[in-house]
Amino acid sequence: MNIGILTGGGDAQGLNSVIQGILWKAKKEGFDVYGIQRGYKGLIESDFKLMKIEDFEEIFKVGGTVLKTSRTNPYKSGEDVKKALETINKNFDALIAIGGDDTLGAANKLHKDGAAVIGVPKTIDNDLDNTDFTIGFQSAAAIAAEAVQNLHTTAKSHERVVICEIMGRHAGWITVYAGLAGGAHIILLPEKPFDIDAVCRVIKKRYDGGANYAIIACSEGAKPKEIKDLVTVTPEKDEFGQVRLGGIGEVLAEEIEKRLGLTTRSVVLGHLQRSGSPNTFDRVFGLRLGVKAVELVKEKKFGYGLSLKGSKIVALPLNDMVGKLKLVDEEFLELTEIFS
Ligand code: F6P
Repeated sequence: MNIGILTGGGDAQGLNSVIQGILWKAKKEGFDVYGIQRGYKGLIESDFKLMKIEDFEEIFKVGGTVLKTSRTNPYKSGEDVKKALETINKNFDALIAIGGDDTLGAANKLHKDGAAVIGVPKTIDNDLDNTDFTIGFQSAAAIAAEAVQNLHTTAKSHERVVICEIMGRHAGWITVYAGLAGGAHIILLPEKPFDIDAVCRVIKKRYDGGANYAIIACSEGAKPKEIKDLVTVTPEKDEFGQVRLGGIGEVLAEEIEKRLGLTTRSVVLGHLQRSGSPNTFDRVFGLRLGVKAVELVKEKKFGYGLSLKGSKIVALPLNDMVGKLKLVDEEFLELTEIFS
């Protein structure tokens, strides 16, 4: 069997572990694996290379993706879809697409258009529906949590308010984990538009009580009730129609300074959250996902994606995993107020 594999969307820690899992398992099964370069861009351009595990033995500890990635959407043009389907049908018995909602959404469409496709859930945002976790989330959340925790010393020394702006697009998973694990006094998520005066009241209460500093974990997609639109870096959208979020930390810092007269700083963690080595969870999770993906190929269970349910990896129709974001739930929303 010939298997094509690709990684799409933002990179994430643990992608290389998925690739290793695929390569090791494929070797045991006697299958050949072809690495498609730069996600769907390489599929459209028929750009792929035969991969041997012997050349990739060391990648388990390295972040990013050895296949490179892009945010190319094959469904942006009819011509591109045709080329992508041609590449699959001419060269591979199956395609394993590793990605988030955009990549797996396109994989689902390719399957409906006749291609033999399997999906592997990846995104640091952890917002893919119907899976407990996606590869990359645990590593990114750990980096963000450490940053939030570390910011306490500076905030305390300078008696300042410090806002940590955290990735995750329209889902607050990284922020809520980082905020809870890093001891943020205020946690602001996209799922719950917030009131700037209410945030100021919590800060004032801390200063009135003598704490004289405050840490805010703020999602890039968090939105004050009094501002109409999400804060973005640019009005432009990517090929999947995604906005580029960024800047809410600075907007909030200015408001806090204005309303309370307290020195406030905003720190944007940005791509540091997706960079560096995967943690132990993502290495093992990635390996398991890769092995399972090859098992699905062997069973010809096409149109399915892998999902973590509890401690088990199961296969679900891609239809049930894409098109709807998994947002932070009530239990976590309530927890956000625990430290205030
Ligand atoms: O989806 C992953 C993610 O890191 C989001 O959290 C963030 O909004 C976005 O990608 C950033 O995209 P880019 O790396 O293209 O700027």
